[in-house]
Amino acid sequence: LFINASEASGRKIPETLFGIFFEEINHAGAGGLWAELVSNRGFEAGGPNTPSNIDPWSVLGDESLLIVSTDWSSCFDRNKIALRMEVLCDVGGANACPVGGVGIYNPGFWGMNIEQGKTYKVVLFVRSLGSVNISVSLTGSKGLQTLASANIIATDVLNWTKMEVLLEAKTGDPNSRLQLMTSRKGVIWFDQISVMPLDTYKGHGFRNDLFSMLQDLRPGFIRFPGGCFVEGDWLRNAFRWKETIGPWEERPGHFGDVWKYWTDDGLGHFEFLQLAEDLGAAPVWVFNNGVSHNDEVDTSSVLPFVQEILDGLEFAKGDAQSKWGSVRAAMGHPEPFDLRYVAIGNEDCGKKNYRGNYLKFYAAIKHAYPDIKIISNCDGSSQPLDHPADFYDYHIYSSAKTVFSMAHKFDHSSRTGPKAFVSEYAVTGDDAGKGSLLAALAEAGFLIGLERNSDVVEMASYAPLFVNTNDRRWNPDAIVFDSSQLYGTPSYWMQHFFRESNGAILVNSTLEANPSNSLIASAITWKNPEDNKNYLRVKVVNFGSDTVILKISIDGLEHNSLQLLGSTKTVLTSSNLMDENSFKEPKKVAPVKTLMDDVGKDMEVVLSPRSFTSFDLFRK
Ligand code: AHR
Repeated sequence: LFINASEASGRKIPETLFGIFFEEINHAGAGGLWAELVSNRGFEAGGPNTPSNIDPWSVLGDESLLIVSTDWSSCFDRNKIALRMEVLCDVGGANACPVGGVGIYNPGFWGMNIEQGKTYKVVLFVRSLGSVNISVSLTGSKGLQTLASANIIATDVLNWTKMEVLLEAKTGDPNSRLQLMTSRKGVIWFDQISVMPLDTYKGHGFRNDLFSMLQDLRPGFIRFPGGCFVEGDWLRNAFRWKETIGPWEERPGHFGDVWKYWTDDGLGHFEFLQLAEDLGAAPVWVFNNGVSHNDEVDTSSVLPFVQEILDGLEFAKGDAQSKWGSVRAAMGHPEPFDLRYVAIGNEDCGKKNYRGNYLKFYAAIKHAYPDIKIISNCDGSSQPLDHPADFYDYHIYSSAKTVFSMAHKFDHSSRTGPKAFVSEYAVTGDDAGKGSLLAALAEAGFLIGLERNSDVVEMASYAPLFVNTNDRRWNPDAIVFDSSQLYGTPSYWMQHFFRESNGAILVNSTLEANPSNSLIASAITWKNPEDNKNYLRVKVVNFGSDTVILKISIDGLEHNSLQLLGSTKTVLTSSNLMDENSFKEPKKVAPVKTLMDDVGKDMEVVLSPRSFTSFDLFRK
């Protein structure tokens, strides 16, 4: 491998090359990154044809003691369903309620993770014709052990009343539930019941452990909120940003009909922009362009959709005095968000009205926000687009062999015109298992190819990012979690090798001998902000099953010489190609860093079979 480490002959890699794609799929947000513990907090959840459904709420007590139903009596205009609970038993007397009372419970998203010593904010809206005395508690999964509890007593709740209580957990349980119990006869209506841990990232509502997995990737951008989630199987179920802003209790929520689950939209347009800001990643907003999987708006009728998106841009970018900017300011963010990229639709290029609709959006956005970069769904990698765009979207899901070979996909793409945004890539099918070493190695090869082509590829993100193991809608995924545990798949760890590439200098590197095309390599120079030192990083994937002794010759070091002290080698491999990580063995396949034992202008390195190695050579 010949490397010319002279930065003068190298090229800067875009700051945005490696980022992440967050889609509301697999309960990535609802029951995942968004820390709300109550599932279906407004009793609104339902399928496309079911107006409401109280699942997973359940009743505690039999029908002779209480009757639970839903009605349309909520004080919130956009989510009218409330829960009506008629308690037939009473304190004492012949029809006494059982000890502890009767009521309802919510198990959250397959169990609430209640942690000892942590505080949880419970909010609920209540109405009753008489006084109420409700015990609010966080309990173990069977309701037998109380982790934290408080009583809500109120005499005048004739009108809907917001109640709040802070609960500090005496003990913890990853499989807890919320119980609302009473022993008083009468009718109580409940609506919009929330349990939020106080301890979320900066208090912004993001589950800390999942957030830090994202932060560790140092993403240059975050694409959101989908994917197919943006399109919907039907337009009526697509993601509509205006329905996801403002006070959480007023949001209607919606049924994501592609991934088949309800979301209360606590993680909405504002929170996605906040997430991007908190990660230091450029937001990339994908919006619906009037096209879903099964229905489309005619271009002649698309203007209201265009206006909705212009309003969404004003919400993000407008000053605090503007109509929609003032809504953002009222939500606690007077400064505009730094939104510079939008994608018109997702995987819609072949749809009848896509081009027509696209042009309407394109013209209106460029007119109002000339600085915004626009991403088309049509592939411009092998032929020019027939419409204006700053980027074209490219998705690849395939076998390991194909993804590895796709490292050369952009070698011959036009060097002028729109750049590529590889917004979804992954090895899928048998090669992937639930996240295998094989998949990660093939993807690493692909990313090295993108890095080498980063004059025409500006952004790339793996998909999907998250999966809650209790609702695996898509396989594989980068980060696997349940209520309290998580691990990164090998594909997640593979992405760590590219964190330092954003904004680094790609220097020339050539593999002289690569007989079976099983090797691929690249080299960058970068400065570590942590120690302020300069490094030459050489990344090599050995996709073959033999050990390789690789000779590396480095030229063009100018005044910098390589130092053994401080130079490291990081390897991602495992004894079996199909090895995966798990809750039990979260780092079975993860990068292992060691000090180098030989460093020089000319050196020989050993590449294990089926491995990805990064040599970080410290430059004095
Ligand atoms: O990443 C999963 C899905 O794959 C996305 O929603 C969609 O864009 C693609 O088909």
